[in-house]
Amino acid sequence: MNEKLPRIQTSLPGPKSQAWIARDADKVSTSYTRSYPLVADTGRGAVVVDPDGNRFLDFAAGIAVCSTGHCHPEVVAAIREQAGALIHISGTDFYYRPQVLLAEKMAEIVPISGDVRVYFGNSGAEAVESAIKLARYKTGRQHIVAFFGAFHGRTMGALSLTASKYVQRAGFSPLLSNVHHIPYAYCYRCPVNRSVESCEVECFQLLEDFHFSRLVPPSEVAAIIVEPVQGEGGYVVPPEKFLRRIRELADRHGILLIADEIQSGMGRTGKMFAIEHFGIEPDIITVAKGVASGMPLGLMIARKEIMDWPPGAHASTFGGNPISCVAALATIRLLQNGYMENCRTQGERLKSRLGEIQKKFPVIGDVRGLGLMIGAEMVHPEDGKKFPELRDRVVETAFGKGLLLLGCGDNTVRFSPPLMIDSEQVDVALDIFSSSLEEAVAG
Ligand SMILES: Cc1ncc(COP(=O)(O)O)c(C=O)c1O
Repeated sequence: MNEKLPRIQTSLPGPKSQAWIARDADKVSTSYTRSYPLVADTGRGAVVVDPDGNRFLDFAAGIAVCSTGHCHPEVVAAIREQAGALIHISGTDFYYRPQVLLAEKMAEIVPISGDVRVYFGNSGAEAVESAIKLARYKTGRQHIVAFFGAFHGRTMGALSLTASKYVQRAGFSPLLSNVHHIPYAYCYRCPVNRSVESCEVECFQLLEDFHFSRLVPPSEVAAIIVEPVQGEGGYVVPPEKFLRRIRELADRHGILLIADEIQSGMGRTGKMFAIEHFGIEPDIITVAKGVASGMPLGLMIARKEIMDWPPGAHASTFGGNPISCVAALATIRLLQNGYMENCRTQGERLKSRLGEIQKKFPVIGDVRGLGLMIGAEMVHPEDGKKFPELRDRVVETAFGKGLLLLGCGDNTVRFSPPLMIDSEQVDVALDIFSSSLEEAVAG
């Protein structure tokens, strides 16, 4: 029996899963979005097993988190060893080796030339909060520019920058004031202009001709925050010059550039950071998700001269927990010793096979992405309009066949498997995707 491939042996959800789902429904917050009823019991590599013994191939990786696969033996060993040595002491008040080692390692791998410092939090949203605070503190300016489609988290500051789906914001106002959203440069999604060539010009004209001349002088803007590849917004890869234009604009006005690499970073796009594909450097980078293979950790890394705030200005009791730090160090070792390369190889395979499937199914509007951050859009073939209902049906049907997928954006299926995935698993996943699409199209 091939334990790395899916096997469904009950109706879904199976009886044991059903019982857990019922208990969850009674006590757990109603705010979680569950696309389908998976109860995860164990995970190994790219496989998740539910309490009823059904085996799933995981192309969601806990929302692009389990970069080294589930429970990688080296990550588990590092966690076990650290748990037996020191679980917590709080880096806000004391020193410990794993935090220093990870700060040094991050300084080595971030695409910022010159010295940097690292701030330690527990989540993506916390990393973004810390970036907002540092940018305001350092520049003495208040305003922030962000992009439509962006997802930066759900705490009040990060939420103010998020412009992905209004359900994430509805009912929570007032949010931070002085946040300005402009379109993210992608012809297909940009409401201003649909041609790639002029899209970035239009987006920035909106910023310069309207925001900067009618709403706020650029001298009052602290930061521009951008996802180098937009994640929750639909796995959107911007044209290269779009990011270069942001850098130029930031430089011209003394604005800090924050690259939110919480989803796109840590090898996910085949380079350690997605911004490395575009040949520019940010001033601040936020990292979370894939950094510690599933242990909670959020990092904010900034040029040394920027991160010079005084003791007490910002901190978190649990941030940079020793166990999360050693898990991150093990993760980075694995990424550098083969998984990033595997990500590039399997990403190519996945994208080219998706391209073949696209030829058979005109409902696939666009296939895009870098490394193993790949999206396939579902559209109405007659007019190319978005087809979110079909996307949801495909994701649900694939679950029934043992493939875990997630959506992103309005109508995109996202493929974000662990970076250790192999060719056979890619092929099986795409066979399931293709047959799910066929069924979903048939209605
Ligand atoms: C780009 C980006 N930034 C921030 C976040 C927020 O991270 P967290 O859910 O850990 O707060 C996410 C989560 O999806 C993300 O994709």
